[in-house]
Amino acid sequence: MPKNEMLHGLNPYDRLKACINDINQHHRDAELCVITGDLTHTADPDAYFDLRKCLSELPMPFYLLAGNHDRRKEMLAAFPDIPIDPDGFIQFELSCSAGRFLMLDTVEEGKGWGSYCETRLRWLRETLAKANDHRVYLFMHHPPFDVGIPSVDRLGLGADGRKMSEVLADFTNIRHLFFGHVHRPIAGSWRGIPYSTLRGTNHQVPLDFEAIEVVPKSHEPPAYAVVFLDDGQTTVHFHDYLDTSRLIYEKVSEGRPDRG
Ligand SMILES: [Fe+2]
Repeated sequence: MPKNEMLHGLNPYDRLKACINDINQHHRDAELCVITGDLTHTADPDAYFDLRKCLSELPMPFYLLAGNHDRRKEMLAAFPDIPIDPDGFIQFELSCSAGRFLMLDTVEEGKGWGSYCETRLRWLRETLAKANDHRVYLFMHHPPFDVGIPSVDRLGLGADGRKMSEVLADFTNIRHLFFGHVHRPIAGSWRGIPYSTLRGTNHQVPLDFEAIEVVPKSHEPPAYAVVFLDDGQTTVHFHDYLDTSRLIYEKVSEGRPDRG
C-alpha cells in the first residue's frame, strides 16, 4: 500500500520499513535479498514508488518476484531494471556464489490463483538445461502444490503445478524451492525437492484447515528469513523481527570439545 495506507488493520509501509531496518542492523553482509511477493495489494503506482524508496535503503542487491496482487506493467514501470524473459514474463536467472537462482513468474494477472503456461515451462526447461551441474534454487510466488490449507490451495497453480513437476523431474540439481503467497511458515519436500515459505511482512494466514471460500487473515507477527546455502546444506532461519519478548543470555559451562 502507499505510505500511510492501512491493510487488514496494519500499516504495510511501516512494517516493511521496520523489516529493512532490522536487516540493515543485523545482516548487512547478506549477498542478496529476494522478495517473493506480493509486492503491492492493488498494483497502485504510488505503492510501487514507495516500495522502491524503502528498498533503496538495502545495502545488498535485491530481486523481486511478482505476486497475484501485482501487475507486470506497473511493477516494471517502477523497477525498469528487472529482467524479463523473451515472452515478457518477469522471470530470470541469477548467478551467485551458491549456484543458479531461477526466479519464476507464476502470475495470472487479475486472478488470485496462479498459472505456469507452456511458454513459461519452455523457458524453465531450457534454463534448467543450461545450468548443467550447477546447483539450482527456485523462487516463485505461488507454491506449485497444495499445502493443506484449503482456502490457499484454491489459489495455487493447480494442474500447472503438476506440469511443472514433470519438467523438474528431469533434473537432479534442484536444491531448494522458496515461495511466498501463503503467509505462514511451512517447510517440507515435494517430489524430492526441499521447500520453505514464511510469514509476510504485513498480515498472515492463520492455521485454519476448515475455511475454504474466504482466506482468513491474522495479525501473527511478521517475519523474514536468513538463508545459508552451501554445497552440502541449506539452512533457513525465520526471524520475527517485531518480537520484543525478553532476551536471556546465560553462559553455558561447556560445549563439545571439538567446538570450543
Ligand atoms: Fe499472493
